[in-house]
Amino acid sequence: MADLSTGRNTGDVGATDPSSVAGADTRSPSSVAGADTRSPSSIAGADTRSPSSIAGAPESRPDPLAYLADEIADLQAKHLYRPLRVMTGAQAATTVMDGRPVISLSSNNYLGLATHPHLVRAALDAVRDLGVGSGAVRTIAGTMELHEELERRLAAFKHTEAVLTFQSGFTANSGVIPTLTGERDLIVSDELNHASIIDGVRLSKAARAVFPHRDVDGLEAVLREARAKGGPNGAYEHILVITDGVFSMDGDIAPLPGICDVAERYGAAVMVDDAHASGVLGRNGRGTIDHFGLHGRVDIQVGTLSKAVGVLGGYVAGRQHLRDYLIQRSRPFLFSTSHPPAVVAACIAALDVLEQEPDRIDRLWDNTRFFKAGLQELGFDTGVSETPITPVIVRDSEKAGRMSDRLMDLGVFAQAVVFPTVAIDKARIRTIVTSEHTRDQLQQCLGAFATVGRELDVI
Ligand SMILES: Cc1ncc(COP(=O)(O)O)c(C=O)c1O
Repeated sequence: MADLSTGRNTGDVGATDPSSVAGADTRSPSSVAGADTRSPSSIAGADTRSPSSIAGAPESRPDPLAYLADEIADLQAKHLYRPLRVMTGAQAATTVMDGRPVISLSSNNYLGLATHPHLVRAALDAVRDLGVGSGAVRTIAGTMELHEELERRLAAFKHTEAVLTFQSGFTANSGVIPTLTGERDLIVSDELNHASIIDGVRLSKAARAVFPHRDVDGLEAVLREARAKGGPNGAYEHILVITDGVFSMDGDIAPLPGICDVAERYGAAVMVDDAHASGVLGRNGRGTIDHFGLHGRVDIQVGTLSKAVGVLGGYVAGRQHLRDYLIQRSRPFLFSTSHPPAVVAACIAALDVLEQEPDRIDRLWDNTRFFKAGLQELGFDTGVSETPITPVIVRDSEKAGRMSDRLMDLGVFAQAVVFPTVAIDKARIRTIVTSEHTRDQLQQCLGAFATVGRELDVI
């Protein structure tokens, strides 16, 4: 936890155990200092042609990045190296992964919108009418009427005064937090918040503190101490409490009503990252604020357009002055090109679908209940999940990797998640069902989990 008496950071936000810090620098210290002069061909996965055979490469220049080969070998030895799986089919309940037909349990395409004909048509129309690129950052020449329309539609959907879109959920978090907080402020963050929140906090000059996961009393203790002592420059000017709405690796939901009560008592602002709640919780997928009936009590809502919405992007919803200020000061907004028209048009079309086809959300939750109960009946540890994100906690990284490979042999794609995405002893298979899976497909997946779970002594 941060040292509140000095206001200086004494640890990373995101975990109290350094080994479990999501996004931590995982290089071993010994390999960072000093360059390794081995030839480039010893780098796993490197172009194995000798440098001289690469057009324009100098004859015998030592590779200053050769130490990365050691890091990769180290990750491989610890079963923490994750090769990329390559999909040749569309992102859907069934697809083709590494050349094999599979039922996919690893996408965030909760409602099947990534291939929805209404979104596809909207994207194609936008390409035909407006081309493929926006050509500039929003503040110079990259704001099209479509961008503003999407923001108006999102604000109406979220019941907030205004919305500002970003290139991704990640840039929304890393762009908002350092823009709104400075050296006389304090950020208080749940220990299991997403890596993009952690990075946003790292970019801020504010003091920082971590509260134990979903622990409202723990949050209150931090706020009480902060208000009593203040920081090195006196009392904190602003305090920002940040939590995920739905936690992305465990699928549990933040205790938002309690968090809002406590934050209000201590005059702190509340920010919720609703990446995995958008399209999943609340009326028509409006998110955790709607789910708990907390409209008007959460100051900053971050959402993503890349998961249930099926496309790409992030957004910040709140008061008009929040939007206006971010436009002037938020660096990813100011310094990175805006979304191309097809992306924006597809996001607008997704809002039509959320409003007109709520049965997709009903099917998502029916499938979630069925699949979660099936895994639990088989004896798997599914942790504390309350949402379609259902982890199968295996603990050991090697076993999680083997389990994922064996599931793949049986036609089920369910990715293993290991350190640094989760703590070193919490490796898991992370599953997400969608509204588009059929019961037969889910039954087939449960059969594969049963076979592999017994083979590897997980159940
Ligand atoms: C909680 C949370 N916030 C933010 C993000 C980033 O969203 P995006 O994929 O749109 O960058 C993710 C994505 O994994 C997430 O899980």
